[in-house]
Amino acid sequence: MAKEYRLLLSYTEREDSHTIEAYESLGGYQGLRKALEMEPDEIIEEVMKSGLKGRGGAAFPTGKKWSFIPKDHPGPKYVVDNADEGEPGTFKDRELLYRAPHLVLEGMIIAGRAIGAREGYMYLRYEYLWIFPRIKRAIREAYQKGYLGKNILGSRFDFDVYVYLGAGAYIAGYAVSTLESLEGKRALPRLKPPRTSQVGLYGMPTAVNNVETHATVPIILSKGADWYARLGTPESRGTRLFSISGAVKRPGVYEFELGSLTLREFIYEVAGVDEGTELLGVFPGGLSSEILTPDELDVPMTHEDLEKVGSTLGSGAIIVLDRSQKALSILRRSIEFFSYESCGKCTPCRDGTNWMTRILVQAEKRGYATAEDIALLREITRMMRGRNFCPLGDSAEFVARTFLDKYEDELTRKPVAA
Ligand SMILES: Cc1cc2nc3c(=O)[nH]c(=O)nc-3n(C[C@H](O)[C@H](O)[C@H](O)COP(=O)(O)O)c2cc1C
Repeated sequence: MAKEYRLLLSYTEREDSHTIEAYESLGGYQGLRKALEMEPDEIIEEVMKSGLKGRGGAAFPTGKKWSFIPKDHPGPKYVVDNADEGEPGTFKDRELLYRAPHLVLEGMIIAGRAIGAREGYMYLRYEYLWIFPRIKRAIREAYQKGYLGKNILGSRFDFDVYVYLGAGAYIAGYAVSTLESLEGKRALPRLKPPRTSQVGLYGMPTAVNNVETHATVPIILSKGADWYARLGTPESRGTRLFSISGAVKRPGVYEFELGSLTLREFIYEVAGVDEGTELLGVFPGGLSSEILTPDELDVPMTHEDLEKVGSTLGSGAIIVLDRSQKALSILRRSIEFFSYESCGKCTPCRDGTNWMTRILVQAEKRGYATAEDIALLREITRMMRGRNFCPLGDSAEFVARTFLDKYEDELTRKPVAA
């Protein structure tokens, strides 16, 4: 039986784990104390050495991202904590925000120290309004204890944290759109380059990181990069939080050392599947990751192994689908989601997702997709590929294309007459 490795989740287990007393009793803010004794470059070096990759979806190396922030920049720099958690199936960050807000805050403060920022913004998903009081409390406690504010622990380092309630849109979680939204505008994507590390919030260098990424940083600092880097595989270091939902007996948030189990072991041995349930497929890293068929699940849960089968660990969201729903209905709902969430800025995404949705709604009413439907859907994905302004449209096209490749027979199968 695959074993959980509760590194971050060990900070979430007590009833009062959100309080500063509980957090400090578990060694909280030791990472910050260490960071304050180090030079900013040394902190970045330590995070690089740990091999930590971003947990928001793109898996970009965190230390490397921080190293891109210009050191001699004359104006302010910013830390942004991406707490928008919008990828369907993802609900791991809320566990940390609700039960261990100090772990996230400590990570943000260390990030600020590393890149030379004095302000951090948490972009909190509006649907997590119910968590907001706990975060406010944690921020208040951190100020009272001298972990935030002026001259933190006598180090002459100043850092303030602000919370901004999100705009309720999937696209608002895309880092460049997050920044637009933080500036009070509609969360439309900005053209990249320039990178946010060069031109970010209010045009200033900004390090945007996911909640879980920030929450991992204090542990790396307090336990040491060498210790952390021994967990996982050379390409996928450390542990990761996974949220699993759908056709499993024990949905929830789990934490594993990367590579310590396969997707099939996670689904069948840990989360459990009812006897007699036949799986249709699994999204291993959120809706935007390539769906895997039931015979593709013997893949170790690492970045490199998921990549080998054409998919990704993405945001760590495993959506398990059984045959109680038809492939056609799942595809329609997925594409309708992208269409609803398309910001409308570019034509391929706005019109492509809408057009595909209309075809799929008709097909679903009929009970199956015709050969013409499939040909037209393929043509639309060809038209969209590589032409979208941002990854939202790319994901919509990719999800449709891989579904057509893997499930064409099911999509076109006529229902048996009663
Ligand atoms: C459409 C879209 C939605 C996204 N939503 C989120 C989100 O809700 N939370 C998140 O951390 N990253 C999200 N991302 C990824 C961010 O753009 C960015 O890569 C991430 O916040 C960087 O942090 P990390 O390096 O720590 O992973 C999204 C990306 C796209 C394209």
